[in-house]
Amino acid sequence: MNLVEVHFAAAGKTVFVQPGTKLLAAAELAGVDVLTGCTRGMCGTDAARVAAEPADALAPPQQHERGTLDRMGLAADCRLLCSATVQHGRVVVLGDALTGA
Ligand code: FES
Repeated sequence: MNLVEVHFAAAGKTVFVQPGTKLLAAAELAGVDVLTGCTRGMCGTDAARVAAEPADALAPPQQHERGTLDRMGLAADCRLLCSATVQHGRVVVLGDALTGA
């Protein structure tokens, strides 16, 4: 099984994780601090802009994440780190969706 590369741009850190890993778990593995709340896709505290290579490197948002992203009116490239699951390829977490940091 090929590992998935996850790069955290702001921290300049990269980790390789198993398919099915959530981005929040990848952040913990990388030693990247992420502000979280519910960790269940409900609060939106951990919304971040991401780039997926290829486009389906992340699994599509499930119901809770989709609802929260829609409610927050975030851009199409935003995901919730506690909920977004890597599938293959490479994912770059560009920065916090709310603060831009
Ligand atoms: S921590 Fe609440 S949505 Fe991710």
